[in-house]
Amino acid sequence: MILENRVALVTGGSQGIGRAIALALAREGAKVGVNFYPGEEERAKKVVEEIEGNGGRAFAVAADVGDRSAVREMVDLLSERLGDIDILVNNAGITRDSLLLRMKDEDWDQVIATNLTGVFNCTRAVLRMMLKKRWGRIINIASVVGLIGNPGQCNYGAAKAGVVGFTKCLAREVGGRGITVNAVAPGFIETEMTAKLSQEAKETFLQRIPLGRPGKPEDVAGVVVFLASSAADYVTGQVIHVDGGMII
Ligand SMILES: NC(=O)c1ccc[n+]([C@@H]2O[C@H](COP(=O)([O-])OP(=O)(O)OC[C@H]3O[C@@H](n4cnc5c(N)ncnc54)[C@H](O)[C@@H]3O)[C@@H](O)[C@H]2O)c1
Repeated sequence: MILENRVALVTGGSQGIGRAIALALAREGAKVGVNFYPGEEERAKKVVEEIEGNGGRAFAVAADVGDRSAVREMVDLLSERLGDIDILVNNAGITRDSLLLRMKDEDWDQVIATNLTGVFNCTRAVLRMMLKKRWGRIINIASVVGLIGNPGQCNYGAAKAGVVGFTKCLAREVGGRGITVNAVAPGFIETEMTAKLSQEAKETFLQRIPLGRPGKPEDVAGVVVFLASSAADYVTGQVIHVDGGMII
């Protein structure tokens, strides 16, 4: 097991890509904090049960990643329960799509608060412990939308492009302290987030994918495990596309 004795925190870990990442990290021996949005405890507990059923160790912990004090409390609780965090996967994300002229203020604010400020809040809350250990892995889930754009997603695309900039700046800041910071940019992955797309939008995406199929959450999880492992010791500041070739 390549992540034995590591402690990981996966935000938005109760479903979709986050769930697959939590399971995959645990399968490699990491103890996993499964963060969930307040009120979604049942699903997070199921992920924990699944990990424990496979002989792993996990702990479900609530926090809205956009809420700075809740994030601090979550990180404190998790390090008490599982130990200091070595691997942070900033996965929590939401969409609130609409064309810009019709975009409501709260749709802009919420998407930025969760997808971008959430990354800042969680990363800053764990960074000190990584600096102390002189070892850490920060893996941010961005999106192809932050790289090539998509009509109706100015809020989401701005947040995800922000995550890419954040990744590159922090990689330069902390590289000398044994901490790598990378982003993963998924394309079209089948989860609840994309289930709400129209059939037409799904077909348009599919036509742009050379591998000819939508991605699975496990496709993203595999790359996250790689970035968390020592196989990626010399990789930092990168954006790895997991999109079936959508962007080449
Ligand atoms: N599905 C795709 O095609 C796709 C493509 C590119 C990027 N992504 C990104 O991958 C990540 C996971 O998406 P998914 O497809 O699994 O979506 P999903 O909606 O299935 O899961 C998102 C998770 O984030 C959690 N979450 C939302 N707001 C939160 C908050 N404020 N605090 C804590 N948790 C919160 C949700 O409860 C949920 O568990 C997101 O960052 C998303 O933007 C997804």
